[in-house]
Amino acid sequence: MRRTEWYASAQSLDSLDLAKNTRPQKNWKTMPIKILFVGDIIGKPGRQALSRELHRLVDRHAVDIVIANGENAAGGFGLTVEVAKELFNQGVNLLTSGNHIWDKKEQVTQVLADARIVRPANYPAGAPGVGSAILTTPGGVKVGVLNLEGRVYMKSIECPFLVADREIEWLKKETSIIFVDFHAEATSEKSALGWYLDGRVSAIVETHTHVQTADERILPQGTAFLTDAGMTGGFDSVIGMGKEETIHRFLTQLPSKFEVAKKDIRLNAVVIGVDEASGKAVSIERINMAC
Ligand code: FE2
Repeated sequence: MRRTEWYASAQSLDSLDLAKNTRPQKNWKTMPIKILFVGDIIGKPGRQALSRELHRLVDRHAVDIVIANGENAAGGFGLTVEVAKELFNQGVNLLTSGNHIWDKKEQVTQVLADARIVRPANYPAGAPGVGSAILTTPGGVKVGVLNLEGRVYMKSIECPFLVADREIEWLKKETSIIFVDFHAEATSEKSALGWYLDGRVSAIVETHTHVQTADERILPQGTAFLTDAGMTGGFDSVIGMGKEETIHRFLTQLPSKFEVAKKDIRLNAVVIGVDEASGKAVSIERINMAC
């Protein structure tokens, strides 16, 4: 299996202009590392919301690293090179994904060749791309990022629990700060993985349902947890897609073309504070804002 380690220094990424802006405001030795994670970005409305609000969020929360789930960022299904570039230019440092990362079939190998884009680590050997990466904050702190996908009501891929063990062992050699995006359907599976990883990762924030849950907390061993970060896109919708065509599909059981919803745009995200020395979470704040 291909393993691409990468260390993205702030200076080497165009996307980190925003991080440079926050640098003078922060006492790196005493303040926690702040990770902003943005829930599934849905098509152009989601990207426009991010474009409007991201810099303000980064300033307000003194964010060091911006991670976003981008699997629905291109027209609501999948990710393209061009869309990924747009998100990086907006200030996203790393994109996670999930089951929809494969939707733009003609581009997926090229998309996943970018070290700033990860797909769930528990796909079988031979799948393009990698499932984890290490970023470096403008203050020089390494942050590991791991992407996993659930198996309940989803594809029968490798066990996310056992793959997490393997990936965390590798990431721990580089850093004690680890962020996990678990892309899964069932709240039971999400909760179980949260408890399974408590004390071994800094945060596990989950995606895929597009509905933000209100159960953010820090588990007893110091892992920040949220069952679902929600979505960034149109809320006058069925999980980001047009209401009429979705209702039609349920009524008729016939395929219909989905259109990305454009009204009632909201940005869903979470900000995690992590103690640099221990890698344990010290804060978790959920964001659900109108754009
Ligand atoms: Fe998904």
